Amino acid sequence: MRMTVIGTGYLGATHAACMAELGHDVLGVDVDTAKIESLKAGTVPFYEPGLPEVLTRNLEAGRLDFTTDYAEAARFANVHFLGVGTPQKRGSYAADMTYVRAVVQDLVPLLEGDHIILGKSTVPVGTAAELQELADELARPGTTVEIAWNPEFLREGYAVKDTITPDRIVLGVRKEESRAEEVAREVYATPISQGTPFLVMDLPTAELVKVSANAFLATKISFINAVSEVCESSGGDITALADAIGFDERIGRKFLGAGLGFGGGCLPKDIRAFMARAGELGADDALTFLREVDAVNMRRRDRVVHLTRKLSGGNLLGKRVTVLGAAFKPNSDDVRDSPALSVAGSLSLAGAAVSVYDPEAMDNARKVFPTLDYAETVEEALDEADIVVLATEWQQFRDLDPVATGELVNNKVIIDGRNVLPVQAWQDAGWNIQALGRNL
Ligand code: UDX
Repeated sequence: MRMTVIGTGYLGATHAACMAELGHDVLGVDVDTAKIESLKAGTVPFYEPGLPEVLTRNLEAGRLDFTTDYAEAARFANVHFLGVGTPQKRGSYAADMTYVRAVVQDLVPLLEGDHIILGKSTVPVGTAAELQELADELARPGTTVEIAWNPEFLREGYAVKDTITPDRIVLGVRKEESRAEEVAREVYATPISQGTPFLVMDLPTAELVKVSANAFLATKISFINAVSEVCESSGGDITALADAIGFDERIGRKFLGAGLGFGGGCLPKDIRAFMARAGELGADDALTFLREVDAVNMRRRDRVVHLTRKLSGGNLLGKRVTVLGAAFKPNSDDVRDSPALSVAGSLSLAGAAVSVYDPEAMDNARKVFPTLDYAETVEEALDEADIVVLATEWQQFRDLDPVATGELVNNKVIIDGRNVLPVQAWQDAGWNIQALGRNL
């Protein structure tokens, strides 16, 4: 099947390469020339395990190409995936829909024949219907353009697996006559034949499925982090507690990892956009709890800064602090709303000499926070540290040897911001190890 994927960021580049991997002929489209040149040359412009291999394999097989030319995209196929960003609007909680609208405005006037646009971006409920109106206005006489919604649930770090073998495929279709289901069944024939649930629903429900899933995940993380605060005040241990409640099948242990909380390009902005949209619809009361979810999450960052100050004798001025991690989570070089970088920045602004190391996210971190000191290696970052903060749980940091690490630093004091280090081993090596939600 022939298709285009418009927008080649994390979502779109992965979707384009993985659709080609499923055997389709795919043209990726973006207005960013540098991104397109890079992808054409077989280089993924961000860190995503497994994606470079899928990209090169399919470029070589001739099933995948990239362009900045919308006219070429219009001629290439009758099925178009829309995967551009919907970032948080400046000065508002709402999602910025400029890029999504621009795709419809630029593409639709160029189309001839019968086309389908399958939206993948995370959008406020009601967007697809609005875009359908816009497309109907812009379509040439005799040309039809159907808008359907096919939300994307991929996680960074597992994007290839999540795209090729998703947990479920959700498709929102309009009430009027629609070809979207037939088209989507052909696009996803492979995962559907392997038993992936394929759920067809109306457009608003499909749009809401995506934001609800992310709001639920954010709530689950903030729930455990809220209980973590109570553990800190009462002498409880959040990791033992999470294990114990996680055995209840109705609860489950996943996403009960207490620590520095959530960040990234999705969860924070999606819960805010969900609240903003509910407000516009007159349903603000329904989601006020998400404000608290957001607040609990942000308080964890403050808590780490506070703990670092306390363990530094009440004053951060001139203290050498090593922050391990800059990415918002391991297996990613994404620093958007990264809790690690937020902590590193706050410590630096409070007067500490902060040395940051991340296996993949250094370049991105430097762009966002150029004033921090970035070490070339983990050893260099740890050199003569007064205190160490583990902020992103990369395997490399989990595997640190407490004895060898102890020989590099000035003071053997570490804050485990992600509750992943083997506490006993670090204590045995003479470290003062502290963690969120635990009294060690
Ligand atoms: C998320 C959703 O999982 C995905 O379905 C959606 O398509 C996009 O948003 P992603 O942002 O890649 O994916 O990251 P995810 O793995 O969900 O982690 C989000 C954040 O939560 C990270 O900062 C992570 O460190 C944090 N987290 C996760 C916790 O703090 N504790 C946990 O137990 C799990």
